[in-house]
Amino acid sequence: MVSWDRSHETVLIRVEAILVKYMMGVNMVNLAFIGCGNISVDHLQGLFELKQLGRNPFELTAVCDIQRERAENFSKEVESRFGTIPRIYTDYREMLEKEELTAVSVLLSHDLHHTITEDCFAAGVHVQMQKPLAISPSFGRKMLADAEKYNRVLTVSEPIVLGAEAVAVARAVKDGLIGPVHLTIDYAATTEVTERGFFGGTPWRHMKGKAGAGWINDHGVHHAHMFTEINGSIKEIFAYTEIFEKELTDGKVTIQPTGEDTAVTVFRFENGGLGHWMCASAVHGERTNGTWFYGGKGCLRPGKHVSLDGGKVITMRELVEKYAQDVVENPFAHSYVELAEAIMDGKKPISSAEKGLEALSVVFAALESATIGQPVKVQDILDGKKHTYEDTVIKEMEALKARL
Ligand SMILES: NC(=O)c1ccc[n+]([C@@H]2O[C@H](COP(=O)([O-])OP(=O)(O)OC[C@H]3O[C@@H](n4cnc5c(N)ncnc54)[C@H](O)[C@@H]3O)[C@@H](O)[C@H]2O)c1
Repeated sequence: MVSWDRSHETVLIRVEAILVKYMMGVNMVNLAFIGCGNISVDHLQGLFELKQLGRNPFELTAVCDIQRERAENFSKEVESRFGTIPRIYTDYREMLEKEELTAVSVLLSHDLHHTITEDCFAAGVHVQMQKPLAISPSFGRKMLADAEKYNRVLTVSEPIVLGAEAVAVARAVKDGLIGPVHLTIDYAATTEVTERGFFGGTPWRHMKGKAGAGWINDHGVHHAHMFTEINGSIKEIFAYTEIFEKELTDGKVTIQPTGEDTAVTVFRFENGGLGHWMCASAVHGERTNGTWFYGGKGCLRPGKHVSLDGGKVITMRELVEKYAQDVVENPFAHSYVELAEAIMDGKKPISSAEKGLEALSVVFAALESATIGQPVKVQDILDGKKHTYEDTVIKEMEALKARL
């Protein structure tokens, strides 16, 4: 029931929420994508799987990309799965003006996250953001403040903590399956740059004025998010970082990267657990990757299995059956369940903007540490007390914008 002793604005917002909840119940809530690049098809597949489960509350009514051809190709993908053709835009502001949208998913380079989010909020639209939440922590803080100012929902689509397997893993550790986590090891050395010229096939990912940092951010922020989801907040981090490869090319585009291509870190969780984390995109010949959470009773390897003292091995499937039968399998599908529940019921998502900001701050604590040559507390990054590295990102971002 609407409580009339509250302010006029609060009453209107609650009436809107009731209306949206009703409309979601009959699949009438309009969603748009801004950005139709690499990741957009995975999102579409997530929505499609929700549709097959009879759980998709969204209708993708509009798509936007500054490259019309990409938007057109993507709209064909939408048609092939849903049988509907979204309207196509090349200017998201025009789309916000003309469409009756409830939510958008923003699928763009990191330098655009904060400005486009504010424009969406100002148009009354809720936002699902891709990782990392923002190009740097201060803009992440601004986005959280804007969500509050405009009273809109802001979620992060962070697949590493979403979907049945990821949720089961986190719940199992919280349930004490492997005991207290003493040691986290995470290695990610990718040869993608040698194979494709750039990781993700995109030059912008190597420029900190567009991406915030290199591989330690683009890939590393996923893992920072997983560490904190599974074992709580990280207190302090020490890192060395380098840019070993000063020029990259895919034969068509040549760049001088400003984002780190190699990072070696050690860290300590608030609960005392220790971690060793390496991210590198400047490796050749052989890739390596893996995550190990070593607890007092066993070892958990996300995506693989749990090994307990005495030799018992638990598969991911068994873990899901025990801990996450209520969660959809596809992480991107789950991100839309979270978005819908946050809009309809005010439910706090697992992959919240706050957790996204924390993960980004872990990455920036590592980058700050490598810049100043000292261990850095994640809280000092979250509070904006330390920002030597971040200042270099903002400087480059502004220089790139000035050149446009
Ligand atoms: N597993 C994951 O969760 C995952 C994987 C890949 C990318 N991402 C994230 O998704 C986001 C997008 O990554 P991507 O790989 O799809 O990038 P991309 O470069 O492939 O696509 C970005 C698209 O945005 C378009 N664009 C640029 N400026 C625009 C504007 N002002 N308005 C409309 N469109 C604009 C570009 O033309 C391009 O098609 C990033 O935040 C990235 O980190 C997440």
